[in-house]
Amino acid sequence: MERVICLVIGYVFGLLQTGYLVGKMHHMDIRKYGSGNAGSTNALRVMGWKAGAMTFAGDCLKCVLAAALVTLIFRNKSPEILPLLRLYAGVGATLGHNFPFYMKFKGGKGIAVLAGLIISTSWWMTIIELIIFVTIVALTRYISLGSLIVSMLFLMLVMVNGQLGGFGVAQSCLNEMYVLAAFLMVLAWIRHRANIGRLLKGEENKFGNPNKTKR
Ligand code: G3P
Repeated sequence: MERVICLVIGYVFGLLQTGYLVGKMHHMDIRKYGSGNAGSTNALRVMGWKAGAMTFAGDCLKCVLAAALVTLIFRNKSPEILPLLRLYAGVGATLGHNFPFYMKFKGGKGIAVLAGLIISTSWWMTIIELIIFVTIVALTRYISLGSLIVSMLFLMLVMVNGQLGGFGVAQSCLNEMYVLAAFLMVLAWIRHRANIGRLLKGEENKFGNPNKTKR
């Protein structure tokens, strides 16, 4: 039952569409410009770095807050299960962010939310992910490529940490954590399918190229 509660808490937090709200502050529907995505990369592309930073911060923070609330609510449960419950909150936040019911299920791609989940999961994972992401974007200028790698790396790091006993959870919980991390990776790759197509054709938008074109 607590798993369902964490999913629902996460989903409700995920519904706060920072990119859409920042777009409204700029008198536009962000989903009608640039890539059409309601995330921080498109906010940066269409409205500039301040809007991009605000969108990233809001989308990241909502997942951090969902995970923190879940930790607070279930603080009296065995600490063994808390990393798993935070992961459920992260999955819920990603679903709320990507598929907000009140926006005809058309939201973002979940990477800023994943960043919030990584921060809530482990500080050293956060540092590794940050270094890898910044390196990829600096070398290629493709944020989408960095996002795809970050989602794959999250699964790998969760598995490595799990095998090393870093989460301190039982094997059954670990297996569940691996399934959830794999689910998040597959979802991120599916949400980036148009980006993957453009990357393969060498036509992907590059970081630093503004694009205010209406779709
Ligand atoms: O996290 C989203 C980013 O990886 C790609 O965004 O707007 O270029 O599709 P966008």
